[in-house]
Amino acid sequence: MNLYQNEDTTILNDAINMIKLKKNILLKGPTGSGKTKLAETLKLQLKQEMNSINCSVDLDAESLLGFKTIEVVNGETQITFVEGPVIQAMKEGRLLYIDEINMAKPETLPILNGVLDFRRTITNPFTGEVVTAHDDFAVIAAINVGYIGTLPMNEALKNRFVVIDMHYISGEILKQVIMEQTQLTDERLIGQLIQFNKDLVMMAEQGQISEEASSIRALLDLCDLTTIMPVERAIKRAVIDKLEDEREQQAIINAMELTF
Ligand SMILES: Nc1ncnc2c1ncn2[C@@H]1O[C@H](COP(=O)(O)OP(=O)(O)O)[C@@H](O)[C@H]1O
Ligand SMILES: [Mg+2]
Repeated sequence: MNLYQNEDTTILNDAINMIKLKKNILLKGPTGSGKTKLAETLKLQLKQEMNSINCSVDLDAESLLGFKTIEVVNGETQITFVEGPVIQAMKEGRLLYIDEINMAKPETLPILNGVLDFRRTITNPFTGEVVTAHDDFAVIAAINVGYIGTLPMNEALKNRFVVIDMHYISGEILKQVIMEQTQLTDERLIGQLIQFNKDLVMMAEQGQISEEASSIRALLDLCDLTTIMPVERAIKRAVIDKLEDEREQQAIINAMELTF
């Protein structure tokens, strides 16, 4: 199992210690900066189970807390409550990973305010049950920070988190991650692809191309594809053809022709 890696070892160490202090952690960084990888690594290192929630405009109280359902037990119809990820994580002392927390509708998450502050408690509106979190319960949330703009996060919610700022890995660490997570072993080609990705990151920062083209996820796909096809076609399939805009595509073709 490969783990989150960074030259800056304070990221992983601080995250572990913050959880031990019962702080809620907000991971803030661009897509592909390893937020989910860090959460998965915390789960492994702390040897805890983890429930995940993906926020979207559709996220509602039921998808957080659970819902009532009708069950037939020994021939009798009963109404039972199926616990959602938050209630379950609180009761069983699991980690709760809330991804893209800024994508939820502003009215949905305040229901968790009491869970996220010193009370660590919620009154389940569907059952009336007062649930207080197990000692091991901890919350890790992630927010995607774009170059072009990020949906702001509700202030009262943000207030309840301590923040870890995440950045793309580069250089030797990135090389190590590529060796661990892809099929590519040719170190010379890895070096070239890292340089190419660095150019794309700069272009994305300047707003010339969208971030999905420069993300580490795209780079890892690209590395895998180069083991089964020529590098130009691999770049086309892993990077260029993801984009809709012809000018962006051309900018990447130009960068490719400079490097390869
Ligand atoms: N620091 C890192 N250490 C290990 N793998 C990483 C790191 N950063 C990115 N990755 C890899 O890049 C890909 C995208 O990372 P991910 O955690 O999904 O990013 P995010 O959740 O921030 O969008 C994954 O395959 C992940 O394994
Ligand atoms: Mg993620």
